[in-house]
Amino acid sequence: MSLEEKLNLLEKLRTEAQLGGGEKRIEAQHKKGKLTARERIELLVDPNSFEEFDMFVTHRSSDFGLDKQRILGDGVVTGCGKINGRMVFIFSQDFTVFGGSLSEAHAEKICKIMDIAMKVGAPVIGLNDSGGARIQEGVVSLGGYADIFLRNTLASGVVPQISAILGPCAGGAVYSPAITDFVIMTKGTSYMFVTGPNVVKTVTHEEVTSEELGGAMTHASKSGVAHFACENEADVIATLKRLLSYMPQNNCEDPPVVECTDPPDREDPKLNAIVPDNPNQPYDIKDVINAVVDDGSFFEVHQEFAQNIVVGFARLAGRSIGIIANQPAVLAGVLDIQSSEKGARFIRFCDCFNIPLLTFEDVPGFLPGTDQEHGGIIKNGAKLLYAYCEATVPKITVITRKAYGGAYDVMNSKHVRGDMNYAWPSAEVAVMGPKGAVEIIFKKDIAAAEDPEAELKRLIDEYRERFANPYSAAARGYIDDVIEPKTTRPRLIRAFEMLETKKDSNPPKKHGNIPL
Ligand code: HXC
Repeated sequence: MSLEEKLNLLEKLRTEAQLGGGEKRIEAQHKKGKLTARERIELLVDPNSFEEFDMFVTHRSSDFGLDKQRILGDGVVTGCGKINGRMVFIFSQDFTVFGGSLSEAHAEKICKIMDIAMKVGAPVIGLNDSGGARIQEGVVSLGGYADIFLRNTLASGVVPQISAILGPCAGGAVYSPAITDFVIMTKGTSYMFVTGPNVVKTVTHEEVTSEELGGAMTHASKSGVAHFACENEADVIATLKRLLSYMPQNNCEDPPVVECTDPPDREDPKLNAIVPDNPNQPYDIKDVINAVVDDGSFFEVHQEFAQNIVVGFARLAGRSIGIIANQPAVLAGVLDIQSSEKGARFIRFCDCFNIPLLTFEDVPGFLPGTDQEHGGIIKNGAKLLYAYCEATVPKITVITRKAYGGAYDVMNSKHVRGDMNYAWPSAEVAVMGPKGAVEIIFKKDIAAAEDPEAELKRLIDEYRERFANPYSAAARGYIDDVIEPKTTRPRLIRAFEMLETKKDSNPPKKHGNIPL
């Protein structure tokens, strides 16, 4: 064969690989409102930056007629590329080839890019669109999944891992995305479940659609499996890129610093009036967050899930931070099972990847009730506590109003290694709310009073005067300073700057035993 013929052959094979399952199936993919594996990559990476690996890999099976169906690439496009100039490793499942199902060879391709990503220290992005295990291959396909699960686990906390779910993701296949740091789903075209609607119907007699059982909104609002539910695939890609912009490439690097046009010394007078005089009146903590961080930099994670706590990334003077904030506008900002888990997972991600933590606290305590107790608020609340205690990144707290009871301890108090703990003058740091407190300690006096109601009110006022303020905590040094709300941004920027070179560590151990 002449060189020219050899080059022609190469070209022919490349064209063949690029067609995946063929025009008809590509058309069917488009008809469903879905992009192909390669179109997705194109949209994700910087122009001309994608380097494909293993384009010529095929499966090695011959059962059930597979020997007559070998398609170059075997249903997954893998490689590396750049996003905003930074290296990432990508696998993108091709639904047009055996429904994107995972064969032994398909799994090997994914494992290969994960192994290199770990060596070079770059994020792994999975674009999932697959019918699950390649049924014709049997156990080697299951083995392939387990090989991926192992790598997901070993890579956890070393390089960021992000999963986009852009089609089916069912059975054991769901556990790879579940181990990764963030899951992004498309509304209407993606679903995740361990067992599908048919099995559900047989076993529990429930009638449920795929969308209700495991669609984007179900996982974004009910199970918390998805961190983002996006309108379409372009929205998924944009979300993915924005998410990455806050993260370092790996656990040994610091997050990127971006240019900041919002003045670091900017004060915001509206913050002085944001907390209502009436302690039972809600306000939106996101108004506080947005007023403090670099203009437009707040990027909320898990927006639809456990809305009584708000988590997300932002920047202060161009530097990434992770924010955890009680939300007084939802359930008074109470901590419950779901909000504790949501907060804990986010804190642990930030701590893994050197992203400093900022906590805004206004919390009346943990949610009472049999639902919560029987559902395990003890062990789930402990996750949040554990995550805060364990985190060694710079940690700053601002108490805007209530810091009651155990929740005071949990929400990055000085005692769990909060580095700088600020309070607004509206802060109430106490064992419990004034009413609850006086009803317990003055029970007999109130009952014996001539006018019990007036006595209760007098005692509540007295208690509030004495304890429901930041000064007894500040007298102990548990609060480093009581700050005027409008100065919060400059104070935080200065404090994080001071903490930039912070070093702290935990005792050497194999790993801790977080209450799961
Ligand atoms: C081999 C598969 C496949 C699979 C789909 N295909 N799933 N081939 N193994 N798992 C093929 C189909 O034969 C078809 O081939 C093409 O992909 C497109 O599939 P359709 O059914 O036409 O598409 P659609 O109607 O959109 O339905 C998609 C689907 C359905 C819902 C995913 O295909 C389906 O239910 N597939 C089986 C899902 C499943 O049970 N997987 C195994 C789960 S167990 P042609 O040639 O016609 O285009 C599992 C265990 C993992 O995954 C355990 C890990 C621990």
